[in-house]
Amino acid sequence: MTEIRNRTLWVTGASSGIGRALVLRLAEHNNFVIASGRRREALEELQQLAPTHIRILDCDVADDSGMASTFERLKDLTDHLDTVIACAGTCEYDDDLQLDTTMYRRVFDANFFGVVNTLHCALPLLAVSASPVFAALGSLSSLVPFPRAEAYGSSKAALDYFLASVRGDVCHTNLKVVLIRPGFVDTPLTAQNDFDMPFLISAEQAAEYIEVGLARRKSIIDFPLRLSLPLRFLGFFRFLWFRFCTPKISRIRTLRKS
Ligand SMILES: NC(=O)c1ccc[n+]([C@@H]2O[C@H](COP(=O)([O-])OP(=O)(O)OC[C@H]3O[C@@H](n4cnc5c(N)ncnc54)[C@H](OP(=O)(O)O)[C@@H]3O)[C@@H](O)[C@H]2O)c1
Repeated sequence: MTEIRNRTLWVTGASSGIGRALVLRLAEHNNFVIASGRRREALEELQQLAPTHIRILDCDVADDSGMASTFERLKDLTDHLDTVIACAGTCEYDDDLQLDTTMYRRVFDANFFGVVNTLHCALPLLAVSASPVFAALGSLSSLVPFPRAEAYGSSKAALDYFLASVRGDVCHTNLKVVLIRPGFVDTPLTAQNDFDMPFLISAEQAAEYIEVGLARRKSIIDFPLRLSLPLRFLGFFRFLWFRFCTPKISRIRTLRKS
């Protein structure tokens, strides 16, 4: 099976990039999709493309108190959720090892606490489904420690652990928990990258990998294979990563003195 059909889904991070491409693909396959993001105009534009299949729910997943009203609005749109795909996320690099905790918190708020809030909000509606699925977007970057990615990579590594822990916790229930780890995808998030991105794929290709992986009931969806395989290998033999790869990637030559 390679398609998801006739399900009710909630996709966060749907106003651009991977989330947007996923919503369109799922709508094409006759699903009812609730699309979230903070930018309402971008969501309205998206809804216009498949008005009968898409509903919008603008929200900030990092806003703990705001998510209570999001839950009420979500209940107005549906009485159940079959699948939730938490795509909302951000990326900021720590250039020169500034260790600015405000930036680290911003990244963790969206990438980690945003997913916790999304699951908190969705759980009562997932509980009504006969085969509920909760999936969230991690990153292949959590397989190996990338220089400059102290904040982003840590938030995704924390997410890996969180989802694995939830999977263990719900093992006596019918909730399926899925970790999705893309490589480099051409989206507004990576448009800021000033380095070569090996095996870059389009948001549409990423959406296809995700839909196929979910339809096949995978617990971990890593893609593309040509990037995930070498990163898995280097994650296992970390001394090779530090010996041969980080010296080529790191830009720091001296430690700052103030
Ligand atoms: N692109 C890649 O190469 C890549 C690789 C690995 C993993 N990922 C992960 O894939 C996910 C999607 O990334 P993308 O590449 O598609 O990036 P993107 O085009 O920048 O999309 C990010 C989405 O997240 C939403 N968002 C961000 N902060 C939010 C918040 N606090 N509350 C609600 N929505 C929020 C944004 O919408 P608003 O601005 O409207 O809120 C936007 O829709 C992210 O989790 C990212 O870390 C991406």
